[in-house]
Amino acid sequence: MAWRNIFWILVYCFVYFQRTTSRTVNLYVDKTFPVIEGERIDFTCVVTGTPRSVHFESSFLDNEIASWITQNDSCIYFQTPNRTFFDASCDRPSLTFSMTILRASYSYHQHNVTCEARYSGTNTDVSEGFITVEVNVPLVAVDMEIKENITLQENEEVNVTCSARSRPLPHFTWFVSGRQIHDTYTITTFDETVPSGTSTLTYTGNRTDNSERLYCVAESGEKHRESSGIFLSITYPPDIDVYPNGIPIEGNQQYNISCLILDSNPSVNNFRWYINSELVSEQTSNILTIGYLNRTDTNNYTCNATNGIGDPTIDFVFLDVLYKGSILMFTTTNTSMTEGQTYTAYVDVEGKPLPNVTWTRDKTDAILLTENDVTNSSLNMTSMCEDTGNYTVSVDNGLIQPDRRHFRLSVFCSPHKDQSTNNPDEISIEAGGMFTLETKIVAFPQPNITWYFRSNSSQTNRILISDNNVLISDISNDAIHLLTLTIEKTNSSHSGQYTLMVHNSIGQDNTSFTVNIIEAHSESSVKVEAIVAGVLGAVVFIILAACVVNCYRKMKRKEKQRKRSWRSSSKDIDDIIKENPIEDFGPIEPAYTSNTMYYKNQPSIQSIETDENTNKIYAKVIKQTTRQQPEVVIADSDANTSK
Ligand SMILES: *[C@@H]1O[C@H](CO)[C@@H](O)[C@H](O)[C@H]1NC(C)=O
Ligand SMILES: *[C@@H]1O[C@H](CO)[C@@H](O)[C@H](O)[C@H]1NC(C)=O
Ligand SMILES: *[C@@H]1O[C@H](CO)[C@@H](O)[C@H](O)[C@H]1NC(C)=O
Ligand SMILES: *[C@@H]1O[C@H](CO)[C@@H](O)[C@H](O)[C@H]1NC(C)=O
Ligand SMILES: *[C@@H]1O[C@H](CO)[C@@H](O)[C@H](O)[C@H]1NC(C)=O
Ligand SMILES: *[C@@H]1O[C@H](CO)[C@@H](O)[C@H](O)[C@H]1NC(C)=O
Ligand SMILES: *[C@@H]1O[C@H](CO)[C@@H](O)[C@H](O)[C@H]1NC(C)=O
Ligand SMILES: *[C@@H]1O[C@H](CO)[C@@H](O)[C@H](O)[C@H]1NC(C)=O
Ligand SMILES: *[C@@H]1O[C@H](CO)[C@@H](O)[C@H](O)[C@H]1NC(C)=O
Ligand SMILES: *[C@@H]1O[C@H](CO)[C@@H](O)[C@H](O)[C@H]1NC(C)=O
Ligand SMILES: *[C@@H]1O[C@H](CO)[C@@H](O)[C@H](O)[C@H]1NC(C)=O
Ligand SMILES: *[C@@H]1O[C@H](CO)[C@@H](O)[C@H](O)[C@H]1NC(C)=O
Repeated sequence: MAWRNIFWILVYCFVYFQRTTSRTVNLYVDKTFPVIEGERIDFTCVVTGTPRSVHFESSFLDNEIASWITQNDSCIYFQTPNRTFFDASCDRPSLTFSMTILRASYSYHQHNVTCEARYSGTNTDVSEGFITVEVNVPLVAVDMEIKENITLQENEEVNVTCSARSRPLPHFTWFVSGRQIHDTYTITTFDETVPSGTSTLTYTGNRTDNSERLYCVAESGEKHRESSGIFLSITYPPDIDVYPNGIPIEGNQQYNISCLILDSNPSVNNFRWYINSELVSEQTSNILTIGYLNRTDTNNYTCNATNGIGDPTIDFVFLDVLYKGSILMFTTTNTSMTEGQTYTAYVDVEGKPLPNVTWTRDKTDAILLTENDVTNSSLNMTSMCEDTGNYTVSVDNGLIQPDRRHFRLSVFCSPHKDQSTNNPDEISIEAGGMFTLETKIVAFPQPNITWYFRSNSSQTNRILISDNNVLISDISNDAIHLLTLTIEKTNSSHSGQYTLMVHNSIGQDNTSFTVNIIEAHSESSVKVEAIVAGVLGAVVFIILAACVVNCYRKMKRKEKQRKRSWRSSSKDIDDIIKENPIEDFGPIEPAYTSNTMYYKNQPSIQSIETDENTNKIYAKVIKQTTRQQPEVVIADSDANTSK
């Protein structure tokens, strides 16, 4: 209270000084503006000189607020204030006039409160002071005009309004569940007198806002207020996807095509199906079922879904029904023919995808012709007797089982030697050994086969039949016959000419072999003895050579194990051979095969030496044939060959 007293003392002093010198009006207020609506405001008007009357007035009121007539020592109201809103008092001695606005109204904002002192009878002889009142209105609430939730079709518009009363005037922002809507969709108007703002949002339905909350926020000074808000229900036509369930293959039972609803608000209440734009009246669910899939069901399947919003949504799938590869027609020229004639087999095929046609001989081992993705195929061949056999044409497009036709081809020919055989027709063998005569004959139809034997001493052929010493075999595959005659234990009586006679209805083929059985101790012929000696010598030599090499290797290996550093600078012979491979001379064993009793024209390693100074290997190799002297070849690891 002390400061207040000091203030009034100062005012009195000032007034006293002023009174004697001038006619002034000084108006004071106890608040700094703006004040808040409802606040009390005290005005003090200090006058100097000798006024006849003093008036408080304001543009917000038609009437004067309060007026006094000042007499010698008193001041008298002649206009009392409406005490609901104002209060007033005066102090004559100090010429101080007070007026109080009990509750500041928003409507006083920017109005002047004037204190006027009149000195003489004329209206011009006046002094006055004024103060402009500023009243702020606190933001208390934001009101949203719509209270009901909105159901709105996508892309349709609705206007939503928010209003709020405040000074400073409110600023509005709009939100859908926290996401601010751009100001360009709003129009805001203000009414200064209320004071209030109104913001109208033109909201366009967007499906992403479905079930979200729409609200506005008003802002005034430091204050924020959020409106109640409404929930949006955005309706839109369905989003659909039509798809087949699995690969459509002819013959599938209960095949389904689905119409999947990806999104819809509200949910779909009506499905329609069209096959190539023709309504399938009995199908009203989201699944179209085809009882039995036929290739004729290759069509466009359209689903027409509607939820009552906008136009029905349609989507379709083209169902391409696949069917297995099969033979429609199979024709051949005559399947019985003679060699050199042309043979043609032809197939018309179908299938989706187009099938591969494969022509094979004897089951499926030998593929003769393959044609991929075709509707027909033909096999043309100039027939040979060897072509006699079983054939298959196979039609496959990967669905279910391939379709097959089997046919048999018969190509007739007179028996003749197979071109690929060149077995020797003359052999020599030591008595007691075994020999085999072998030849390959082509013949069709099935020939009769007879082996004849004529000994050197005899002039007549006799027919040979299998017994426990003589083995006659015929391994045949249609037209090809592998014919063998084996004599297990030979003696001199087996020397002579063996003749194979093959004949069928077309013709005949004779093949002759000469066999010499050599008696081990026969003195009869020097020439024979020499040959036999040579041959035997060679055989023994080879066996020995093999033995020597093997023994040498074994020895070396043992030595290596015993004494690993056989020579620090030299390497093991096996290693050297590995590093410097010499010509592969084949297996080191007696060079004849078991079923053809003749010597192979094959060299053998006789011995191997190493030169410790040069790391070279020297191998003595013999190369020999039945009728040739052994040929000695010396090779070294530098690949220089010398005899
Ligand atoms: C004061 O103002 C109120 C509202 O305008 C009015 O109802 C009332 O009659 C007035 N009182 C006087 C004394 O004029
Ligand atoms: C208040 O007084 C000022 C200064 O004379 C004037 O510019 C303003 O218009 C007045 N206000 C009203 C509401 O009369
Ligand atoms: C508006 O929707 C919300 C959420 O769906 C619900 O809780 C509320 O009751 C609805 N209000 C009115 C007025 O229908
Ligand atoms: C929304 O308000 C705008 C501007 O006032 C008006 O042009 C539009 O027609 C209104 N839209 C609706 C749906 O009422
Ligand atoms: C719908 O709202 C999303 C974001 O929520 C917006 O990306 C999209 O453009 C809006 N769609 C339309 C048609 O305005
Ligand atoms: C497919 O339909 C056609 C025409 O209806 C019919 O002739 C044919 O036999 C059907 N095929 C199968 C495999 O059912
Ligand atoms: C299926 O629809 C496609 C694309 O509209 C059209 O090109 C085709 O001709 C239709 N097929 C049938 C069998 O109607
Ligand atoms: C889809 O079905 C509705 C009735 O549900 C029909 O009015 C409309 O024509 C159909 N639309 C098409 C593309 O077939
Ligand atoms: C097979 O012969 C037929 C008729 O002579 C001919 O049309 C076809 O092209 C031939 N096919 C082949 C694979 O040579
Ligand atoms: C070919 O087929 C016939 C009868 O179909 C059969 O007797 C014969 O053994 C078959 N030949 C081969 C090599 O499979
Ligand atoms: C048909 O031949 C093509 C090309 O060689 C191959 O890719 C495909 O797998 C074959 N189809 C079948 C069913 O074997
Ligand atoms: C084959 O021999 C049998 C009996 O040994 C005989 O009946 C048949 O006629 C002969 N076939 C030919 C083509 O000679």
